[in-house]
Amino acid sequence: MHKLMGNESELLYGALCYERGHKRRTEHILKVYALAKLLGERENVSPEEREILQAAAILHDIAIGYCKERYNGDACQANQKKEAPGLVEKFLREAQYEASSFPRILDLVLRHHGYDEPREKLLQLLIEADLLVNCYETAPGSGELQKIESLFQTETGKNLFSLYLAGRKE
Ligand SMILES: [Fe+2]
Repeated sequence: MHKLMGNESELLYGALCYERGHKRRTEHILKVYALAKLLGERENVSPEEREILQAAAILHDIAIGYCKERYNGDACQANQKKEAPGLVEKFLREAQYEASSFPRILDLVLRHHGYDEPREKLLQLLIEADLLVNCYETAPGSGELQKIESLFQTETGKNLFSLYLAGRKE
């Protein structure tokens, strides 16, 4: 058992409290967190790395609610990128994460929509978890599906995406 770098349950609890029951965002956090955990475990990510991935999954959209309030409903990517660093650090600190973990977690949060950039394993897994959940939540049109499918790289992610496609036909 590696030495934990933070209290993950407190981080999740903190994020859920922050969303104050907002239905879509609360459900989104829970789903992306669960899938990121599954992908990390099935894709042979080390326990230390999985902790980083799971913290990033909990916080990946944390700036949306804040930006909507602060910028008159505008949670565009630029606004989220501006506000995410302060929020991510605050939540990690409150859940007793080691400061040395902050940069990598923040980096994943900031880049999880960067589909066109090269991406390391943890970012890939976070993107796959988020894409899967977004597919179920927003039911993209068939034109978009090809692009989405091309973004999956891991075996687990590809399999889960094919389950999503099969479910669309029912
Ligand atoms: Fe998301």
